[in-house]
Amino acid sequence: MLKPKSSNIPKATRYQNAAIDYYMGLTNSSYLHYGYWEPLPTPGEELTLTCLRVAQESYAAKLLSFIPEGTKTVLDVGCGIGGNAAYLGDRGFTVEGLAPDALQQERFFQNTNGQVPFYLTRFEDFHSSNSYDLVLFSESSQYIAVDDLAQGAADLLSNGGYLLVADMMRSNAEYREGIFSNCHIASELQATLVQAGFKLIKTEDISTHIAPTIDLCVDNFRTFGLSTVKYIADVVAIALPPLYSLGRWAFKRWLEKLVVEGLAARTIFESHLCYEIQLWQLSQGV
Ligand SMILES: C[S@@+](CC[C@H](N)C(=O)[O-])C[C@H]1O[C@@H](n2cnc3c(N)ncnc32)[C@H](O)[C@@H]1O
Repeated sequence: MLKPKSSNIPKATRYQNAAIDYYMGLTNSSYLHYGYWEPLPTPGEELTLTCLRVAQESYAAKLLSFIPEGTKTVLDVGCGIGGNAAYLGDRGFTVEGLAPDALQQERFFQNTNGQVPFYLTRFEDFHSSNSYDLVLFSESSQYIAVDDLAQGAADLLSNGGYLLVADMMRSNAEYREGIFSNCHIASELQATLVQAGFKLIKTEDISTHIAPTIDLCVDNFRTFGLSTVKYIADVVAIALPPLYSLGRWAFKRWLEKLVVEGLAARTIFESHLCYEIQLWQLSQGV
């Protein structure tokens, strides 16, 4: 399936996709998630990409610790570029992945040595005659409407099968606009899953363990991103003053608000969101 046209994708999701691409370029890792910082960095400690990569391995291990004994088959929804799939595959699980992005598909095959099947599709359009022991949404639940997520997962699970969701969620339902606004409202997700026949088995709030990644991204954005833009602007101001004036106007008009919001990401996260790992089980007979 082709990559969906950008016009079909909600604006908030397109902002997130841009952030994923930025993140991919920044980290050069096989994971696209925030990682799990354990131990937490000490105040003032320098946050590095090397530390982030360690945190990302810890996150994969954390997900693994939520997978119930006896699980064999896993559908990795929104599998990104294959880090989690490779990690689980190496530990004996039979994994399949899906994501609606051809660039990710290419990277996924590289990172899993072509050993793991990949479906180039949105979850909403995915139908399979296979059923799985566990359906995993590692930072992908926020892209899929709660009803589609709940019903789609229930349709793909064997009786008594598991759903593992690890993602940022809105703890404040009134937070409706801004960089994290496409995350689900935690209470709505919960109610919809219960309605679809799922029972919550285990949950953990890992907000403090993902937050250093927000700090790292903001630091890098401030240090490298903004200073590079400023340097280019200074050069253009000298060489082509009219272009500089136009660029300055365009920045003020469209970008300044986003930049200010990006720099405040940690505060926004702490005020309105949380990050949870939730293991759900589909009730027998549903
Ligand atoms: C933040 S990345 C997480 C990737 C990976 N699960 C990980 O933990 O590294 C979000 C993923 O969700 C995928 N995604 C976005 N919309 C989707 C949809 N409608 N159905 C399935 N996957 C989707 C993106 O393409 C991307 O692979």
